[in-house]
Amino acid sequence: MNPDLDERARAILVANDRGGYTIPTAGLYPYQWNWDSALAAWGFSSFDIDRAWTELETLLDGQWDSGMVPHILFRAHDPSYFPGPDVWSSGTTPSSSGITQPPVAASMARLVWEADIDQGRARVAKLFPKLQTWHRWFMQHRVREGAVAVTHPWESGRDNCPDWDIGMAAIDGSGVGPYERRDTGHVDPSMRPTREQYDRFLTILYWGRNVAWDAERIMADGPFLMADPGTHFILMRANEDLAWMARQLGEDDKEIMDWQSILKGGCDFIWNEALGAYDARDMRSGAFAGVLGSGAMLAYYADAARPALDAHLMRSWDAVRYGLPSSDPEAAHFDPRRYWRGPAWPFLNALIARGLAMSGKQQLAERLRRETAEAIEQGGFSEYFDPIDGTPCGGPDFTWTAAIWLTWAGLGPTPS
Ligand code: SER
Repeated sequence: MNPDLDERARAILVANDRGGYTIPTAGLYPYQWNWDSALAAWGFSSFDIDRAWTELETLLDGQWDSGMVPHILFRAHDPSYFPGPDVWSSGTTPSSSGITQPPVAASMARLVWEADIDQGRARVAKLFPKLQTWHRWFMQHRVREGAVAVTHPWESGRDNCPDWDIGMAAIDGSGVGPYERRDTGHVDPSMRPTREQYDRFLTILYWGRNVAWDAERIMADGPFLMADPGTHFILMRANEDLAWMARQLGEDDKEIMDWQSILKGGCDFIWNEALGAYDARDMRSGAFAGVLGSGAMLAYYADAARPALDAHLMRSWDAVRYGLPSSDPEAAHFDPRRYWRGPAWPFLNALIARGLAMSGKQQLAERLRRETAEAIEQGGFSEYFDPIDGTPCGGPDFTWTAAIWLTWAGLGPTPS
């Protein structure tokens, strides 16, 4: 407990509130991002339960008719971000991006409900069918071979992680045309994706826009399609939480549990025996990325870890001081301050620690909490941290870092 930091974290959530929805951080990310928003709801549940529900409601208000919940909702134009609503051209209200993001919202809705178990029923009852429709969309439009795939690195939320290098290498970004990045005006460029990566990010975006965001065509012919352990395990965990909500509400959970069987079967597809870990996989060629990333560590969060993963967890964690690194610190591609190529991400630590605690690894969960708390105590509520020396990186006064401080890192040991 640290009353000053608690107060500061609450102030960040309040300052990032734009009226019913929360931005991740001013300047760098001035809109409502999908998984950031879900984490914000969890944070708000520690001091303003009504506001927590409102966050989830505004996020799901952006749901497309297809069931997809977009990764960004552009509610008020802000030129400090690129690519904005004019680039995505979703044609929806509110305008949005044309891809989704890891579906952590059902799990956050459960946590909010658990903090408001008596009064929350009416509000969760309205959210439940929207969440179920979104998960159904995932199962129909993003699952092949039982594994969850992403159609753009941004869809994984882990934009430039080495997991995507083989898929990105297959994309010709040379015809992208002129554009002006805004992110590198807010944050040290050495902490952000490279120009070559942005050329490819935009090339994939333009391809989807040219087919009017037709999910079937993107899956069938799009330039990028990779199975993502991170999104796979987040959806598995979210299905468990959705099924729990279904039973609490007296709804049938059969459809959701059928989805779970498919995803449990799909774990074999993303298990790289040679690596001894879950691994991203190019869906077109079948090739594994051959990369140990933090997406694989979310297996603990989904109760899908295998013994061989424990060795990688400890090896990669013991090589740094402020866990967990977002990519293997012993690999050549490790870059401790460059976004998803090495830094430790507090909100991901929170999810993985919940999984560790759930699988009986209480001491590891507590170690992860303590290391995350120390990074925040020393460096503030940054987007991410150098896992070796704890240098705060990326955007400042970050919503999800504040949220997990209030609900996990700033509290005692993680409950199982
Ligand atoms: N994370 C992406 C960005 O950096 C978009 O989701 O803009």
